[in-house]
Amino acid sequence: MTLALPFLFAALAAQVAGAGDVAPKAAEPARRLVDQLDATQVQRILRHGPLEPAPPDPTNRVATSDAAAHLGQRLFYDTRLSLDGNHSCTSCHMTSRAFADGLDLPVPAGASERHSPTILNAVYQRWFFWDGRADSLWSQALQPIENPRELGIGRAGLARLLVEDTRLAAEYRAAFDEAPSAAPEDSDRTAVNAAKAIAAYEARLVSADSAFDRFAAALRAGDLDAAARYPEDALRGLLLFTGRANCRSCHAGPLFSDGEFHTIGMPPKGGGKLRDSGRFRGIELLRADPFRGSGPWSDAPDSERAREVESLVQSPEQWGQVRTPSLRNVARTAPYMSQGQMASLRDVLHYYSTLDGAVAAGHHGEQVLKPLALSDGERADLEAFLRTLDGVDPPAALMKPLPKAR
Ligand code: HEC
Ligand code: HEC
Repeated sequence: MTLALPFLFAALAAQVAGAGDVAPKAAEPARRLVDQLDATQVQRILRHGPLEPAPPDPTNRVATSDAAAHLGQRLFYDTRLSLDGNHSCTSCHMTSRAFADGLDLPVPAGASERHSPTILNAVYQRWFFWDGRADSLWSQALQPIENPRELGIGRAGLARLLVEDTRLAAEYRAAFDEAPSAAPEDSDRTAVNAAKAIAAYEARLVSADSAFDRFAAALRAGDLDAAARYPEDALRGLLLFTGRANCRSCHAGPLFSDGEFHTIGMPPKGGGKLRDSGRFRGIELLRADPFRGSGPWSDAPDSERAREVESLVQSPEQWGQVRTPSLRNVARTAPYMSQGQMASLRDVLHYYSTLDGAVAAGHHGEQVLKPLALSDGERADLEAFLRTLDGVDPPAALMKPLPKAR
């Protein structure tokens, strides 16, 4: 009996390995790869997790308020925020598409020259938009509200809506302990509060617990059996990502984004020269934004976080740089890049492999990347790894408009 037990366990383990999402053939080599990881490899992998709660935003006093998030959820799905009455935030940030829109550039046509990014995990970012021209989620939200080509109701219009709709007015009072007001001297305050409520809602749109997170957690805990359940091709891709391909130099940390601005020479949509000045102009716009964290509408203009904007310096090499996108949920947010130039992950990896058509960015035209010349197998491994970054969606109650009835 005692002799038979190990065999029994081995047979059971083989069954379990074959039963999961890992093909039986792949299970054994993944185990071998896991056992062979050296200290540097493990250390680099563990830098990509876990995704801890986002740092607080002191410039928004209601950032974590339930009542504010409730109002924010209401507004996020409200088409009355648009001039044509047909669009809301979720027209371009769709729950069914991981809060992106699946398009290269958003409709209505001409709404933006840039691709709609997902807002899952946006709360972790320090600078918002591809060019970083907003430094908080709430100041970000005011921009589509103002922009007639996006929603366009404007601050005064939004304040009026909050006053005239009795349910919105009640929810506003619950969140801010005061009534909304559309009087000319008050409407900015009402609209800014509403934007802070939208930000409180967005802050809850967090998505983690991906297959990669479970792998990293197992590795951290030293549970190599659990770690070996990670698909072998994904692990090879991860080792490329953190190793020879050096993707981690920009797609760093638990968000797989360093939060900073770079150029990868991506050819602009429609060809020709790079026209989007990216971070270069983004810094100018941010410093001039009355709704920036160090401005008069901030709840903590003197906080360390708010003051960061004051230390930003514009310089020529920022021309054309865009913020490194997070790669969490990336398999669900095609197409890719700041103008949606790449249709699939396969295209992205082809680009990093060859740098086909790369354009020099910045006034100095610096060459930041070298073609990686990845084999077909390596590209497949990298793609398999990127697919393990799909996280669990936020709670279902946050993924839809609030019910109309009270
Ligand atoms: C017409 C489509 C459209 C609508 C409507 C829209 N957005 Fe966006 N959103 C975009 C595009 C495009 C970008 C990127 C623009 C850029 O970087 O210049 C963006 C960027 C963002 C970002 C920045 C994400 C990041 O990682 O930096 C957030 C957050 C966001 N939108 C939230 C909202 C909210 C809240 C609303 C409603 C008040 C809204 N959006 C309405 C298209 C839209
Ligand atoms: C020099 C910094 C840098 C390096 C190195 C880098 N990236 Fe990127 N990555 C970026 C930037 C910046 C963008 C957005 C570029 C744009 O929109 O023009 C991007 C975009 C992407 C996208 C599209 C994401 C989206 O939502 O649009 C994917 C996927 C990606 N990178 C994967 C990788 C992989 C895999 C590697 C390694 C082979 C890598 N990156 C190396 C900075 C980098």
